[in-house]
Amino acid sequence: MGSAIAAIGSEFTGGSKHPKVSKQTILLRGKCCWVKHEIAARNTHSAVTRSGVVTSIAMAEVTITTRGAKRIRKGHLWVYRSDVRDAQHVEAGAIVLVVDEAKNFVGQAFYSDASEIALRILTTSRDQIDRAWWRERLRRCAKARASIMNESNTYRLVYSEGDLLPSLIVDVYDGHYVLQALSQGTHRLQSEIVALLIEEFQPRSISERNDARVRQFENLELRKSVLYGDAPDEIEIQQHGVRFIVRPLSGQKTGAFLDQRQNCLAAARVAHGRALDCFTFNGGFALHLHQSCESVLGLDISEEAVAAAQHNARLNNATKVEFKVANVFDALRQMEAAGERFDTIVLDPPAFTKSRATVKSGARGYKEINLRALKLLNPGGVLITCTCSYHLSEEMFLDIIAEAALDARRRLQIIEKRGQSSDHPVLLGVPETHYLKCVIARVIA
Ligand SMILES: C[S@@+](CC[C@H](N)C(=O)[O-])C[C@H]1O[C@@H](n2cnc3c(N)ncnc32)[C@H](O)[C@@H]1O
Repeated sequence: MGSAIAAIGSEFTGGSKHPKVSKQTILLRGKCCWVKHEIAARNTHSAVTRSGVVTSIAMAEVTITTRGAKRIRKGHLWVYRSDVRDAQHVEAGAIVLVVDEAKNFVGQAFYSDASEIALRILTTSRDQIDRAWWRERLRRCAKARASIMNESNTYRLVYSEGDLLPSLIVDVYDGHYVLQALSQGTHRLQSEIVALLIEEFQPRSISERNDARVRQFENLELRKSVLYGDAPDEIEIQQHGVRFIVRPLSGQKTGAFLDQRQNCLAAARVAHGRALDCFTFNGGFALHLHQSCESVLGLDISEEAVAAAQHNARLNNATKVEFKVANVFDALRQMEAAGERFDTIVLDPPAFTKSRATVKSGARGYKEINLRALKLLNPGGVLITCTCSYHLSEEMFLDIIAEAALDARRRLQIIEKRGQSSDHPVLLGVPETHYLKCVIARVIA
């Protein structure tokens, strides 16, 4: 750990094999690490070695188009490769200075030599991005989550772009931390980030879930492992008093769908009668609903998920809840044919469209399940319907629900339009940070 912290001062500042500045390079031996000392004409950052020597480090410069610069100045954090004019000799994952074609400063960013997202802006200021800078950003994230700890011992501590820490995810499960480094930039700094998390938060363990497919766009290997401490296979967490077993190293995402935490509470407020939780995973909605409902049926196609949900039901003594393995598309049709009826239905499917090209076919999937669910609802019944497809806007989603209601001959009243939980904050100017939409509606005729 010591060496990781020692490296932080220089590594967090980024670097380049051949920075595009006039410079003279001398290598100094610090107590614990080599620090590149460059006397640069411009674009320098100072860094303090373990021996206390103040050095200045040249930063590579990447020039972007006027269009790319405009996008950043309007608040976005990404520069696509097509907007990169000049990035010669910049190292993969380095933190670079970003300038426009007139050489005006735009910001400081992670550079990727593989992804279509070539630059991810860390700041549009000239702040020195050193260990203190990272510490401050992590502290800000923790402060913003302080109130959640009254409701749950589990939350997302860092939500990448939403927290101005692009491509870094950190989830906390009762003191056990799980991180995802989703770009070359955060991958390169991973051991330094781990060292800071240890210093700041004294986690019980830290694991990496770097098996997310997006890492392939960055030419990064897929892997998962324990990085620090003892990480148990199973961790018991609680959300609003409901207990769950999660498996951060083997479950979906980093172990749980933390983005639905507050929607589960909102659903429980309106739920009543006979409830159906479609795409239940480990029973998140179902176990929140069981207090206010006469019975709850949870469905999921994954046997593993259903077994976990059944275990969670026993953990909570939730005797009115039943879980079954089923394909929701088939089950909804079969239940309609059998004349079954519900008073509350939750639809929380996986993303049916993961790109703009598949929005149309994805929309058909959403319409189908919403139409079937509406036909199964009794008058006065409530539908809690979600999409986690970024490419489907709230407006498009509402149009799909409206079409489904027309076809099902049901008149719907919108009770709430919701998004992801507050520990997944949406950054204005970066629409990609707003991916989850949750509509709660009542059948009034
Ligand atoms: C977004 S997750 C649900 C998260 C869950 N509602 C929660 O709050 O924890 C989607 C779930 O749908 C399941 N699934 C995917 N396709 C399915 C299908 N055709 N029928 C039933 N379940 C499906 C997956 O196994 C996954 O558990």
